Amino acid sequence: MTNGILKGKKGIIFGALNDQSIAWKVAERAHEEGATFVLTNAPIAMRMGEINELAEKTGSQIIPADATSVEDLENLISQSMEILGGKIDFILHSIGMSINVRKGRHYTDENYDFSMKGLDVSALSFHKVLQTSMKLDAINDWGSVLALTYIAAQRVFPDYNDMADNKSYLESIARSFGYHYGIAKKVRVNTISQSPTMTTAGSGVKGFNEFINYSEKMSPLGNATALDCANYCISMFSDYTKYVTMQNLFHDGGFSNTGVTQEVIERFKD
Ligand SMILES: NC(=O)c1ccc[n+]([C@@H]2O[C@H](COP(=O)([O-])OP(=O)(O)OC[C@H]3O[C@@H](n4cnc5c(N)ncnc54)[C@H](O)[C@@H]3O)[C@@H](O)[C@H]2O)c1
Repeated sequence: MTNGILKGKKGIIFGALNDQSIAWKVAERAHEEGATFVLTNAPIAMRMGEINELAEKTGSQIIPADATSVEDLENLISQSMEILGGKIDFILHSIGMSINVRKGRHYTDENYDFSMKGLDVSALSFHKVLQTSMKLDAINDWGSVLALTYIAAQRVFPDYNDMADNKSYLESIARSFGYHYGIAKKVRVNTISQSPTMTTAGSGVKGFNEFINYSEKMSPLGNATALDCANYCISMFSDYTKYVTMQNLFHDGGFSNTGVTQEVIERFKD
């Protein structure tokens, strides 16, 4: 399925760590749809070197940047405009990390240094990307900026821990910055709330296998895959969704509007 719907568009894709990453699939699909883009990730994530394979496959350059560092972001965004030959049309923020989750700290026993770092990486970095782009006037009119989120921002999933708070903050930034960027430059800002997906970040959550199975049974269409999430991102970067902004868009097979499914009810029969 390639229709060239991103032909001539330029972008920056954050967060492709390995071929499981949602951002990896977005890069592959964006390339197939005719976009050119720069790939970026935290310098430490480059150590595995897998991103080089993606860069080669998609004819992209890589610029390392810690998304919490405004200096790194300024360098990334201005260099990207030079490499791509002008302003950009789309940005994918596909970044998330909680040290409390990693270290197994319970939500009621957070280490606040860990919490602050997780908030900076997972949420505030989105504001930094948007603010830096705006200051450098780096995005074309009708450009599209996306971040990825999870429904734990609205409902409790206990093991999602402080990432739930980070995602709420992230979604709020999309609304608030979307307002200002819309007025200033007609730039769209949205979050996509994706089904649980087997990736490095996803599988860090305690009991992830059970979680993914539960979600599968609770979604009329089943869990959305990383590739399908990428396809949704492509549509959001295209001109077919020009008036969609400041939204949190569920891409979850219907999970968010389902109270219970027959399949789950059956399991509670006496
Ligand atoms: N996997 C899921 O179940 C799921 C569900 C809904 C939303 N999401 C979201 O999708 C996004 C992508 O995650 P993924 O599941 O593809 O996992 P992933 O582990 O492949 O991607 C997370 C990325 O964040 C990057 N990152 C971490 N710290 C960074 C920093 N300081 N600067 C720049 N980059 C940094 C990592 O290097 C990695 O590439 C995240 O926002 C995640 O919360 C994931």
